[in-house]
Amino acid sequence: MGGHALRTTLSQYARRVCEASLEGLPVLLESIALGCKVIAEATKTAGLSDSRGGAGTQNIQGEEQKKLDVISNDVLLDTLSKSGNVAVIVSEENELPIFTDNKTTGKYGVVLDPMDGSSNIDCAIPVGTIFGVYELLPGSLGTQEDVLQAGEKMICAGYCLYGSSTVLVVSLGVGVVGFTLDTVLGEFVLSHPSISTPDKGCVYSINEGNSSTWDAGLPDQPTLKYVNLCKVPKDGGPPKSLRYIGSMVGDVHRTLLYGGVFIYPADKKSPKGKLRMLYECFPMAFLVTQAGGAATDGTMPILQKIPNGIHERSPICLGSKIDVQEYVELFSSAQ
Ligand code: AHG
Ligand code: MN
Ligand code: MN
Ligand code: MN
Repeated sequence: MGGHALRTTLSQYARRVCEASLEGLPVLLESIALGCKVIAEATKTAGLSDSRGGAGTQNIQGEEQKKLDVISNDVLLDTLSKSGNVAVIVSEENELPIFTDNKTTGKYGVVLDPMDGSSNIDCAIPVGTIFGVYELLPGSLGTQEDVLQAGEKMICAGYCLYGSSTVLVVSLGVGVVGFTLDTVLGEFVLSHPSISTPDKGCVYSINEGNSSTWDAGLPDQPTLKYVNLCKVPKDGGPPKSLRYIGSMVGDVHRTLLYGGVFIYPADKKSPKGKLRMLYECFPMAFLVTQAGGAATDGTMPILQKIPNGIHERSPICLGSKIDVQEYVELFSSAQ
């Protein structure tokens, strides 16, 4: 092969990896990638256009929507519906599932956080898009039950980070790969051929402001114990560094690549945790697990949980498997 081999694109990777049984998944991924390209541009120019600031509306979560929450949601619902492969979509920004008119062709259900970390947009801190994909249940034409499956039933998950570069990280169940947007080609090209999370890390990532009410109700706050051990390790070694930007995609991307832990525990304000199971916890847990890490709610692996509602929340600790195991042991001794 000549010396001018080009980098693999997301489409080429997906077509190569998806078995015949997952037909339509490459086209679905291309529709997500198209949406992410549009969102990347809108995010980068938010300060110059009218897409910065609040939309003046609230979503079902009771959050003030940013204009980019709404724009990102509209773009992705449009590109996914046009892919022809999606029968049902759950989005953070929609109270109810969206049933597309791909009744006969749609084989997949998609769960979406179209704009994650939206409170950071106006100060140009990295934000992202998170997605997960389920195959419809046998014989289904697209119902809510198709997307109320355990996290481990996902066949694909990923995120797009709108940061110093635009990076789309995805797993089809055979490891984790990353693609960086080549703005000249307009293509996501392979930049991280095989992402694996170190077994142990030197960073912990958590909103320390909530520490007085972490693990709402548990007798001795295992999360607080864990964080104190990050600061003063039992073995007398150096403390872990604290890194927290308040965008799950940014905090998880750093954790996935560098190791350590990202934690959003239950607290008084969010007694079941703040992060949504379907379109934040599951996709990130899928990716970290595929990269050799682990993800727990403190008492069980996140991916074994089954949501009762499409916006159900969960506590989460994910990252390097040795660090996550230490967190779990503190929870089990707290029961
Ligand atoms: P979203 O912008 O999609 O609503 O998600 C925000 C989430 C997540 O991105 C981040 O990890 C977390 O909120 C930060 O919460 P705090 O500001 O309470 O730390
Ligand atoms: Mn939100
Ligand atoms: Mn989010
Ligand atoms: Mn969001």
